[in-house]
Amino acid sequence: MKTHNILVLLTACAILSLFLPDVAYAQATQNQAGTYIGTQVCSSCHNDLSDHWSHTVHSKIFMNNPGNEIERRGCESCHGPGSEHIIDPTAVDKIIRFSQNAPSPTGEQNRSCLQCHAGGNRIHWSSSIHESNDLACADCHNPMANFSSVNLLVQNNINETCFMCHKEQRSQFNRRSHMPLNEGKMSCTDCHNPHGSNTDSLLKTDNVNQTCFQCHAEKRGPFLFEHAPVTDNCLNCHEPHGSNHEKLLLTARPMLCQQCHTSIGHMNDLFTSGNLATGSRPDIRLIGRSCQNCHTQIHGSNHPAGSKFQR
Ligand code: HEC
Ligand code: HEC
Ligand code: HEC
Ligand code: HEC
Ligand code: HEC
Ligand code: HEC
Ligand code: HEC
Ligand code: HEC
Ligand code: HEC
Ligand code: HEC
Repeated sequence: MKTHNILVLLTACAILSLFLPDVAYAQATQNQAGTYIGTQVCSSCHNDLSDHWSHTVHSKIFMNNPGNEIERRGCESCHGPGSEHIIDPTAVDKIIRFSQNAPSPTGEQNRSCLQCHAGGNRIHWSSSIHESNDLACADCHNPMANFSSVNLLVQNNINETCFMCHKEQRSQFNRRSHMPLNEGKMSCTDCHNPHGSNTDSLLKTDNVNQTCFQCHAEKRGPFLFEHAPVTDNCLNCHEPHGSNHEKLLLTARPMLCQQCHTSIGHMNDLFTSGNLATGSRPDIRLIGRSCQNCHTQIHGSNHPAGSKFQR
């Protein structure tokens, strides 16, 4: 009868833990139970690694100028208490192990970093697209040595870190027209916050146009005559990551303009197919900058007679 009761209790606990992730977490951390043994003990076995770590910002603060009890723990402020690990170093669950293939669940790994780094730029981390795709802080950061000059990244710079997973953007930035990212003048994080944001696509600003205005302020206006698709969204005409058409355009002119403007109302039959730059005998006025040979101020005009963006 007693064993039966225990079985019932165990099953109940197991079922309960399915619904309550916190119970599962409590069990996982129980495996890490133990006492803090100090950085010197860790270093006695992991000496090469400790040496590399000693040059990082964490080590400098934790070892020389700790601000609180957690920082004072050194290695164990991230890896958790080590007393059980040193009894059997091969047991996988006796110390927090980081990175994607590590046996410690990513949630547990990330919580360890978030003890000190919650809030700030990570205010939207929880349920961000990276968090919900099970990324670990350690997918992008390696605090064990200075692989990058700042930010403790796993690669030597920001763009290479993102390119590990975002191959499509890597190839886009190799296209004929691209902003100078590969040239080292900007990085993915000029526009994106990899830790989460409250806009689509992890943008740092409230919308696409504000992202662009950070550097192209002259396109912000206000204009006497605004071109509706420009105020709506720069991406109506531009690819942010790179394009094989000039000036990051989605498609070549005049087709770009003709997606929205039909022939109605325009003079001189400029829009009849034979006359287009793509036709067999293109009209001279549609060669080169095409429609913009005349409609030069396509982002908006401040000229009193600029309602058709010609000046
Ligand atoms: C007695 C020697 C010894 C001490 C002391 C020791 N470790 Fe280890 N540690 C090992 C060995 C050996 C392994 C490799 C075990 C294995 O193959 O999984 C290991 C593995 C690890 C790993 C996992 C490595 C991986 O590949 O993911 C971490 C993390 C770690 N130790 C951290 C620590 C920390 C933090 C301390 C101090 C609290 C510490 N160790 C103290 C011997 C030690
Ligand atoms: C700021 C948090 C942090 C601190 C402090 C820290 N580690 Fe780590 N450690 C990590 C992360 C994250 C990884 C995973 C790195 C990776 O492989 O990308 C890691 C990996 C490791 C590994 C396995 C990787 C390998 O290269 O073998 C060992 C062993 C280890 N740490 C030991 C230590 C020791 C010893 C100390 C103190 C001298 C220490 N760690 C301090 C976060 C930390
Ligand atoms: C005990 C507190 C603590 C823990 C745990 C901790 N950090 Fe830090 N971290 C700090 C402090 C303090 C600094 C330096 C001041 C600052 O930038 O806030 C810092 C700085 C950093 C920096 C900036 C480095 C630079 O070059 O400016 C990164 C990136 C970072 N930590 C990542 C991590 C990651 C990833 C983890 C988990 C594996 C982690 N930290 C765990 C306290 C902590
Ligand atoms: C997808 C990659 C990625 C992930 C995942 C990621 N980071 Fe970062 N992190 C970066 C990059 C890139 C920077 C540099 C940002 C910059 O310079 O604008 C950075 C900067 C930081 C910094 C220093 C500057 C600041 O924002 O305070 C800290 C601290 C930090 N990350 C902590 C974390 C923690 C903690 C986690 C996990 C909860 C995490 N990061 C997850 C890519 C990542
Ligand atoms: C370990 C792999 C990994 C790394 C490294 C990584 N990402 Fe991601 N990223 C993902 C995954 C997975 C998704 C979600 C699936 C998808 O849509 O591609 C995602 C989604 C995104 C999205 C949003 C896509 C959308 O549709 O909303 C942006 C923006 C992004 N990542 C930017 C970055 C930046 C910037 C960096 C470098 C700081 C970075 N990522 C590094 C894996 C990664
Ligand atoms: C000049 C600003 C800018 C830079 C730099 C930038 N992006 Fe983007 N990114 C955007 C905009 C704008 C969007 C689209 C947002 C939307 O559609 O709402 C976007 C969308 C994305 C998406 C979602 C899928 C897609 O293509 O719509 C991913 C993933 C992404 N960017 C990754 C990256 C990576 C990785 C880097 C660095 C190599 C990077 N971005 C650099 C502005 C930028
Ligand atoms: C961090 C700064 C920055 C941000 C944000 C930014 N740009 Fe740029 N952009 C540049 C720089 C730098 C150049 C190159 C200027 C030059 O070569 O004179 C450039 C060039 C361009 C060009 C001309 C490309 C060519 O082939 O000549 C276009 C079009 C453009 N950006 C559109 C955008 C759009 C659309 C956005 C918003 C999604 C945006 N930019 C956001 C910095 C930025
Ligand atoms: C209706 C289509 C359209 C929209 C929407 C649009 N652009 Fe453009 N943009 C163009 C065309 C076409 C060119 C090429 C102009 C040329 O050759 O003179 C261009 C060129 C540029 C250039 C490079 C040349 C220059 O004038 O500096 C930048 C930067 C730029 N656009 C930024 C933006 C920004 C920022 C937005 C959003 C506020 C935006 N564009 C919205 C059509 C558009
Ligand atoms: C995404 C759709 C879209 C694209 C692409 C586009 N436009 Fe427009 N354009 C509009 C809209 C909407 C208006 C406002 C129409 C209105 O007010 O009746 C407008 C207005 C205009 C006007 C003023 C018309 C008037 O009646 O006052 C001119 C000229 C013009 N666009 C030229 C161009 C040129 C040249 C291009 C290509 C470089 C272009 N547009 C690309 C949507 C677009
Ligand atoms: C040779 C110069 C020239 C070229 C090239 C040209 N336009 Fe025009 N466009 C004009 C003139 C002139 C007007 C009438 C301006 C006015 O009424 O003040 C005009 C008017 C327009 C209008 C407003 C029509 C309306 O109903 O008021 C639109 C839209 C327009 N053009 C789009 C285009 C597009 C798209 C192209 C490229 C396929 C193009 N234009 C090429 C000179 C040109």
